[in-house]
Amino acid sequence: MLSLVRLIPDQLEYGWKAVGAVVESIPKDVPASLAVCGMGGSGVSGDILRGLLLHTSPIPIEVVKDYTLPGWIKNQAFAVLISYSGDTEEALALWEALTERGVQRLAITSVGKLKELAEAEKVPTVTVPSGIPPRAAVGYLFAPLLRLVDYWNLYPEAEQELTATLELLRSRMSEWEKETEKLAQSLKDHFPIIHSLDQRFAAVAYRLVCQLNENAKVLAHAHVYSEMNHNEIMGFEGGVDENIALIVLDPGDEFTHPRNRKRAEIVDKILPSSIPRLVIHAEGESLLDRFFSLLVKGDLLSVFLAELRGVDPFPVASIDRLKKELS
Ligand code: PA5
Repeated sequence: MLSLVRLIPDQLEYGWKAVGAVVESIPKDVPASLAVCGMGGSGVSGDILRGLLLHTSPIPIEVVKDYTLPGWIKNQAFAVLISYSGDTEEALALWEALTERGVQRLAITSVGKLKELAEAEKVPTVTVPSGIPPRAAVGYLFAPLLRLVDYWNLYPEAEQELTATLELLRSRMSEWEKETEKLAQSLKDHFPIIHSLDQRFAAVAYRLVCQLNENAKVLAHAHVYSEMNHNEIMGFEGGVDENIALIVLDPGDEFTHPRNRKRAEIVDKILPSSIPRLVIHAEGESLLDRFFSLLVKGDLLSVFLAELRGVDPFPVASIDRLKKELS
């Protein structure tokens, strides 16, 4: 799994190129809204895109993770359906609903039923290399989304930023491995509560929860400033389990509202000092840099924690069992 995390920059580069010709067949007019549909390690790319464009996109971007489409998704919307395996039943149910509502779409997959349906319905499709866990394919699955919003001019700086992000990830990877290997040691035998200082980065906090769940096989919880100041901080008054550890995702001052920075300083005094605090700092210049530096550090942390706990990060037995019993 470690070698797959190291491949995220290569995957991003591949995914950007792979969608190149496909994107040209998509209408150039900006749709009324964008829905990204997909579950787990596939759907998370939609969360990342939504977070990245949250402050700037003129159209709503929503992520759908269920069997049923929200009512607002009508034929003026555009949908991207992502399923790495191509066989996830919620994604296939959404595909059917999108067909019924006449929604234009793009499919991103590697194999499976989704690929067959997309081919049969002549829907533009990005096919990425198969054979790895979906969550480890995040670069392949996310980059086509980035290029799509660039095509619509919703993120005009995307290509330039991506080039710099690839450089950052490649040049800093080995340092980040050392940093996160140490963090994993402090996290061992703790229940991680992850706070992100900016709501755009809630997507990265959620990614970290999922990676800790699936790779390290531990429970984790995430919340975001400033919302957690209005509820979760009260929960700490009820007594703190000695195994809790806080992980703060810090995107840097430029990407943190000054009042949230202030809030974090006060919360630090309010929460019991016995709780260990780990801070993961974003690196780089652009928002994309900040997102992917935090995401990669989180992925590495989950892999090192798996190693420390003596668990194999690859199998997801409970997910597989569920899928099997439902089929
Ligand atoms: O990472 C994983 O293995 C899961 O979270 C899957 O992504 C999830 O079960 C959905 O499957 P797929 O990504 O193939 O649609």
